[in-house]
Amino acid sequence: MIVLVGFMGAGKSTVGRLLAAKLGLPFTDSDQVIEERAGQPIRRIFADAGEPAFRELEHSVIADLLAGPDAVLALGGGAPGHPATRALLAAVPVVYLRVGYAEALARVGGDEGRPMLARPGVQALHAERQAVYASVATLTVDTDGRLPDEIALDLLAALGG
Ligand code: S3P
Repeated sequence: MIVLVGFMGAGKSTVGRLLAAKLGLPFTDSDQVIEERAGQPIRRIFADAGEPAFRELEHSVIADLLAGPDAVLALGGGAPGHPATRALLAAVPVVYLRVGYAEALARVGGDEGRPMLARPGVQALHAERQAVYASVATLTVDTDGRLPDEIALDLLAALGG
């Protein structure tokens, strides 16, 4: 199992897919499994059930995925904020894809499918989460100004693939 964490727009899904292909592993995105399980897009879950309900569902999906077959697993940007999820991450390799605030916004700004982007204080959230990502990471890679394929190749080399 290899887990990817980082802020929205860090490239977790794009880089994760490339890395999975290089490693011959399946790729899984926790957001996608959450949407399948809830039968609703994330934006709807936030609007109808609220963020705390989303975070509980997110934790239980991630716990199930971590207990499942080997994969490259990309987590939603807020997932490591959940203490029980952080505890589970202590047992697996975790790659932190670091992205600066300006570049994150340039990549995903205005995406209505990402309700956290519409909140006030997104820059402060980005700043606060850096320490959270760093606390779970076994490997940190900067992504600003870099192409997904270069990053995936770096990861492959660092992970000994
Ligand atoms: C969130 C990030 C999203 C998704 C949800 C909340 C966050 O995932 O889980 O919209 O709190 O940062 P991505 O990081 O894949 O955009």
